[in-house]
Order: sequence, then C-alpha cells, then structure tokens
Amino acid sequence: MATADGTWAYRDRFGDEFGRTYFRRFGDGVISSLGLGTYLGDPTDAVDERYEKAILAALDGGCNVLDTAINYRHQRSERVVGRTLEESDVERESVLVATKGGFLPFDGERPENPSEFVREEYVGSGLVAREDLVRGSHCIAPDFIEDQLDRSLSNLGTETIDLYYVHNPEAQLEARSQEAVYDQLEATFTRLEERVAAGDIRYYGVATWDTFRVHSEHASYLSLPEIVSRARAAAKAAGNTATHLRAIQLPFNVRMADAFTVEAHDGAEGVESVLWFAQKAGLNAFASAAIGQGQLAAGLPEAVAERLEGDSEVQKAINFARSAPGVTSALVGMSSREHVEENLEACRFDPMGAEAFDQVFE
Ligand SMILES: NC(=O)c1ccc[n+]([C@@H]2O[C@H](COP(=O)([O-])OP(=O)(O)OC[C@H]3O[C@@H](n4cnc5c(N)ncnc54)[C@H](OP(=O)(O)O)[C@@H]3O)[C@@H](O)[C@H]2O)c1
Repeated sequence: MATADGTWAYRDRFGDEFGRTYFRRFGDGVISSLGLGTYLGDPTDAVDERYEKAILAALDGGCNVLDTAINYRHQRSERVVGRTLEESDVERESVLVATKGGFLPFDGERPENPSEFVREEYVGSGLVAREDLVRGSHCIAPDFIEDQLDRSLSNLGTETIDLYYVHNPEAQLEARSQEAVYDQLEATFTRLEERVAAGDIRYYGVATWDTFRVHSEHASYLSLPEIVSRARAAAKAAGNTATHLRAIQLPFNVRMADAFTVEAHDGAEGVESVLWFAQKAGLNAFASAAIGQGQLAAGLPEAVAERLEGDSEVQKAINFARSAPGVTSALVGMSSREHVEENLEACRFDPMGAEAFDQVFE
C-alpha cells in the first residue's frame, strides 16, 4: 500500500528535478501530477513487455501513479503492473496503484465466443444477475464488484489497492433510472467501505467517461453531489466514521475541457463545474486521456499552445491537463519507454497558474 512515509520519501528523492507543484497531496501522502495509464495496446506478450519497460522507467524517473482496470487488455495490464511493481527497486509503499471494476473482463485474450464466456463465467455462475448486465458487458452490482476486487488484488499481487474505482457507472443509465443507479452505487459503496475496513482497499472513487462532462439534462448525467451523499450514507451503513470516497477520474485535455467549463453540479454557491465541486468536497481528480488518446501529438490550437510551457505539443498538452485547478494528476497512457521519458520532461516546466488557466477560456 502507498504510505505517507513511502510517498514523501519518493518525493524527497525526485522533487527537486521537477517544476513547481509536481508532487501533490493525496490523503496523507503525495503523488506525481503525471500518472501512467495502461488502457491502450493489443493483448499480447510483446505489448506486456513494452509496458514492463515503460513502468520501470516511470517509477525510476519520478512518476508514482499507476492507473489500470481489470478489463484493460483482458487483465494483462493489471498483471503487468503487478509483476513490474514486484520487479522494481522502487518500494511498493511509494506508489499509488489505482484500478477499476465494472466491465466484465476476459482472461488474457478475447475468447472465440465472448457471449458464451460471459454466460458461463459470470451469469451461469450466479455472479451477475441478468437484470444487472448492460450491453452484455457492464455491471456495478455489489457482489460482482467484490468479486472483481478480489481478482484485481490477485492480478496486482498486492495486499491493498490504494484507489479502487467503480468504472463508468453511467453505462447503467441505459437500463435503469438515475435513482436506481444511485441506489446501486450506494449498495456497492457500502461493500467498498467494508473492504476499506478490512484493509483490502485504502480509498475508492468513480471513473467516468461522459457523466461528469455533460449538462444535467443529458442521458449520461450523474450528479457528483448526490454520489458524495450516497458515499456518506454507505460509510455510515458500514460503521465507518467518514467516507473513503476520495477520487473521481474523467477525461480532460485541451479539446475536452468540459469538466472545467460545464457547470452542472449543485454546490454551496450554486451550480458548479465538476472540478470545482470535487475540489471543495476534498476529492482528488485524475484526468484521463490527457493527450487525447495520442491525437494531441499532431498539434494544439495555437492560442492555447502559445500560453503553455513545453518543448513539444505533447509536453504542452500534458502541462495543460496538469494545470487545471482541481486536477491532481494527468494520466497518460504510455507503453513506450521513450514516451515516458519525453512526458516526464514536460513536468520539469511549471504548470500554468490558476489565473493564466482561466484566461485560456476568455
Ligand atoms: N473511463 C475511464 O475510466 C478511462 C477512459 C480512458 C482512459 N482512462 C485512463 O487514462 C489513461 C490515459 O488515457 P488514454 O491512454 O486513453 O489516452 P492518452 O493518455 O491521451 O493517450 C495515450 C496514447 O498516447 C501515446 N503517447 C504517449 N506519450 C506520447 C508522446 N510523448 N508522443 C506521442 N504519443 C504519445 C501512447 O502511446 P504508447 O502507448 O506507445 O506510449 C498512447 O497511444 C488510460 O491509459 C487509462 O489508464 C480511463
């Protein structure tokens, strides 16, 4: 598990090499504002080997945030993260390991008959009730999430997962009402609170794609204030003194800045952007797709690029995501060691100040 001592020692080792506020608070520890994501890439041994080298380079270079999910590359990403943490000289206590459950994962490769696999492994075995399954591939019911958490602990070879996300809960809105999704989240959060008490996870969160970027009338919308309130109720039901809901994850980059611009969450001072609300609620925000799934390498809008520090378009894009008020860490998918090196270089520059960031949108 990441500890205060472990992460602060990591910061002492690397902090001076980077720009202002490169390391940021997460709980009682500190984490890098560049995190390594493991979503993309084929489910092959060759890509596993690339990730292994990239993760070693990241840990040895000042990045102590690893983000994965059980379904990424059919569980291969979690497994390579686990193996590489074991192999690395960097101690486990220095690294935030985050994973997610919600999409039914295959096991190492895509089966010849995916529906039959899902039927046998999950529905037939009683782990997933048909009515909880959306698109034949998504479920956030408590029993299923607990099963997935156990599998992730085993894949990652760790006693405690630092941050466990419920993955894309908005997918459930295709099959049930908003209220029913909140109810299911509360039931699942209650189990996660219990697993915190048991020491299996330290914190939990929700990782999303659409839900926190849209207006409240949108079919994919869920309210963060309501999610926080459900997490508080879950903590109480589990007998914990406070909620361990600690983070949200959502796409954020130069071309997808809705988390900053769309005001859709009821806060103390009126309707607020999700980043603003999260910050005030004490939640850490993790920006996914920070370089637009690689597309921002081709160029940023000129008016934005000229305000950002960095030697390449990608470095500037990373510094945009790291600069948004409320973002703790910008996640960049990196299976290439060279990309790790280039992206860590971006963080030698200071991020934009809050005022300069605001001006980009004027
Ligand atoms: N809903 C969700 O929960 C959700 C959704 C999407 C993503 N995520 C998380 O967020 C992470 C980041 O998002 P993402 O991977 O989708 O997109 P991304 O980080 O915006 O882009 C990743 C792509 O950019 C390439 N790349 C990295 N550095 C580069 C550089 N310096 N120059 C050129 N290309 C570069 C990578 O190539 P190489 O692999 O070859 O290095 C990879 O193809 C994911 O890995 C995942 O952990 C979560």
